[in-house]
Amino acid sequence: MKFVVSTAAHLLYSFTALASASPVIRHQPLFARQDIETPFNASLPTVAIFATGGTIASQGSTNTQTVGYSIGLGVQQLISAVPEILNISNIAGYQISNVASGSVNSTISLKLAEAINAELAKEEISGVVITHGTDTLEETAFFLDLVVDSEKPVVCVGAMRPATALSADGPLNLLQGVTLAASEKARGRGSMIVLNDRIGSAFYTTKNNANSLDTFYSTEQGQLGFFINQVPYFYYTPSTPIGRTHFSLANITSLAPIDILYAHQDMNPALFNASYASGAQGIVYAGVGAGGMSAKADLAAEELFNATGLPIVSSHRSAEGFVSDGQDYRIAAGFLNPQKARILLQLAVTKGLELEEIKQVFAMGYPMV
Ligand SMILES: *[C@@H]1O[C@H](CO)[C@@H](O)[C@H](O)[C@H]1NC(C)=O
Ligand SMILES: *[C@@H]1O[C@H](CO)[C@@H](O)[C@H](O)[C@H]1NC(C)=O
Ligand SMILES: *[C@@H]1O[C@H](CO)[C@@H](O)[C@H](O)[C@H]1NC(C)=O
Ligand SMILES: *[C@@H]1O[C@H](CO)[C@@H](O)[C@H](O)[C@H]1NC(C)=O
Ligand SMILES: *[C@@H]1O[C@H](CO)[C@@H](O)[C@H](O)[C@H]1NC(C)=O
Ligand SMILES: *[C@@H]1O[C@H](CO)[C@@H](O)[C@H](O)[C@H]1NC(C)=O
Repeated sequence: MKFVVSTAAHLLYSFTALASASPVIRHQPLFARQDIETPFNASLPTVAIFATGGTIASQGSTNTQTVGYSIGLGVQQLISAVPEILNISNIAGYQISNVASGSVNSTISLKLAEAINAELAKEEISGVVITHGTDTLEETAFFLDLVVDSEKPVVCVGAMRPATALSADGPLNLLQGVTLAASEKARGRGSMIVLNDRIGSAFYTTKNNANSLDTFYSTEQGQLGFFINQVPYFYYTPSTPIGRTHFSLANITSLAPIDILYAHQDMNPALFNASYASGAQGIVYAGVGAGGMSAKADLAAEELFNATGLPIVSSHRSAEGFVSDGQDYRIAAGFLNPQKARILLQLAVTKGLELEEIKQVFAMGYPMV
């Protein structure tokens, strides 16, 4: 294994200097490999960090600015800001993209997953950390849960405050993410999300609040563990979520387009056909209550299904809940929220599964035994 050795001084990073600098937006090319310059210590594990952008890689113009900041920090700068990491692990760093997570798309997540699978196949790599914007972090984390082919820890981290802010949360989240990725105890638990001291399962964890630090958790299913004085404590022995389907990415170069429609009073029934006409290969709708929508919208969806066989998944717009199989044209999302149901449908359709198989893939998430 080859690491570029540099002096510790080179790694030191000044937030004060950053705070006075004008914001820079630098868009990194997809997959420009960027080896991180960390001194190699043979008695430490090695963790790969994949940076994708987001608030954790952002700078405001002052230390009090917490909205309206710009993305600009590269993976090297993220790591340099937390020299404590190098006492825990050697680091191999990759810049995958440098975008707000609203702009992370299937091209990026697919290439990210392929890069992670390649990295985890290396014996010397203990685990991986993905730095990501928080807005769609749960989508990428859930996608990785379904497609990463390894028992090694996959840990997604982000930040709610930019790197320049007073009480920036990114550095500690990154330190905890690397600690977890380097930990034997974290193996075999599926992909995880770490922010604000909590360790959550990517399968269930969601972003609950658009602004506050304490936003990532799962109310019903709970947390996997917690950090106390930077030591990860797990509440349970390792296990992966029930019904998790593993998808191989072999021969997959793009993912099927799937739309999400949002149910509400006066929902426009024409949206189903409009979505299909614009190329959607499946539709998830965020239903009222446990997967409902207006009679008119329901009729339009059923007509579209009857005419085309397009898979239509019913999820719920409520933050928590369960949509059960109504034995009709719909595929029930079970516990999955619309954005996670979309990822699962995307993989199922891309894999060319038949309708009944897709129903089974979703139903595996809530075995009714
Ligand atoms: C390498 O890591 C070990 C274990 O943490 C530590 O004891 C040792 O001081 C480190 N060596 C160097 C050169 O930093
Ligand atoms: C790394 O560990 C060494 C030895 O325990 C300690 O002297 C040093 O301060 C640590 N560095 C950081 C950045 O925590
Ligand atoms: C995703 O974004 C990248 C970078 O902006 C772009 O090159 C790519 O075409 C996009 N992929 C899709 C499926 O839109
Ligand atoms: C991928 O494509 C190759 C060549 O067409 C084929 O031999 C192989 O079976 C495919 N693998 C999978 C998992 O579909
Ligand atoms: C869709 O097809 C089913 C099965 O043939 C039928 O019972 C139902 O009435 C059709 N729905 C609509 C809206 O045409
Ligand atoms: C949607 O399209 C289907 C088939 O293309 C058609 O049968 C149906 O009447 C359309 N529904 C609406 C609401 O326009």
